[in-house]
Amino acid sequence: MATISFARGVPAPECLAVEELADCARVALERDGHTILSYGSPSGYAPLREWIAEQHGVEPERVFITNGSLQGFVFLSQHLAAHKRVLVERPTYDRPLKILRELGYEVELLPCDDEGLDPDALEQILRDGFPPAFLYLIPTFQNPSGRTLSLERRRRIVELAREHGLLVYEDDPYGLVRYEGEPLPSLFDLSGGEVIYGSSFSKTVAPGLRVGWFVFPKALAREVEATATATYITPVLLGQATVNEFLRRGSFEPNLQRVNGFLGARRDAMLAALDEYLPGIRTTRPQGGYFLWLELGGVDSSVLLARAEEAGVTFVKGTDFGGAPDTARLAFSFVSLDEIRDGVARLAAALPVSV
Ligand SMILES: Cc1ncc(COP(=O)(O)O)c(C=O)c1O
Repeated sequence: MATISFARGVPAPECLAVEELADCARVALERDGHTILSYGSPSGYAPLREWIAEQHGVEPERVFITNGSLQGFVFLSQHLAAHKRVLVERPTYDRPLKILRELGYEVELLPCDDEGLDPDALEQILRDGFPPAFLYLIPTFQNPSGRTLSLERRRRIVELAREHGLLVYEDDPYGLVRYEGEPLPSLFDLSGGEVIYGSSFSKTVAPGLRVGWFVFPKALAREVEATATATYITPVLLGQATVNEFLRRGSFEPNLQRVNGFLGARRDAMLAALDEYLPGIRTTRPQGGYFLWLELGGVDSSVLLARAEEAGVTFVKGTDFGGAPDTARLAFSFVSLDEIRDGVARLAAALPVSV
């Protein structure tokens, strides 16, 4: 029996527009090969920087493109490490947690509920403590919880940041991966561009192209650029030029709609299966993104995981994200509709106690 993976937060193969992207790569190379195949700016491929700058209403000098947004997160964290203290949501994306700890940061996890980060807790920390280097936030369809920070809290957090001179990094790879409801303004927009904004084409085009971007304040852009130069001279321009061609020929929107339709159907299937097989379990019901967050009512998710793997299904324990022992992340982005139903049935059968 093959294991069904609710652990993999990656797009299913059907999401990847392979032929179209192959054509984009070929066209980009034929048109601009001498630039793409050489060393260039540490901040990325100029035509793509310009496109992103226009989307955000900023000068291209503020846009910094990296080999995936996680690489940019490393650059930023390395650059700010002198302050040694960082605030994050509890739970939060596990890779930044590891990166921050490896860089020697003292990581402070702030409480969240269904509306996202609790601004009162943030205010308390800012009043009481040693000033942190920055706040790392994933406000929309958060990894791992799928939660979205409410508009009121977005406003409050932006105000608090301004009042206390707190640097905020808004990580937003899922903002456009919305298959229901209306988008909320980003913290970047609400702050008039003071918040650092980061996103990626990993969820909207293809993760293997490794194209992520940041909008920094100008001075910070120059400083982080120096770290990038010292690390790899130039990011991979072929991936960026391929994305640029994909955008300029008008393929981005139709592809996004196709991907969002695919993901929405998977979210529906997972919620329906959970309602059917695990009606006592509390879960988030996101309008976009890749993930659901389960609260297992006192059941230790490490015990459940061991039993679930024997039953042929896997997921990620909430503690990997700094969450409580009785929480779990289920990804529905990679699995088929049939696998979702079967996997949830296996999970229900593996539960050590009835809930
Ligand atoms: C919140 C968040 N940020 C960043 C990333 C990484 O994006 P990239 O592929 O651009 O490095 C992910 C990937 O899963 C993510 O969930």
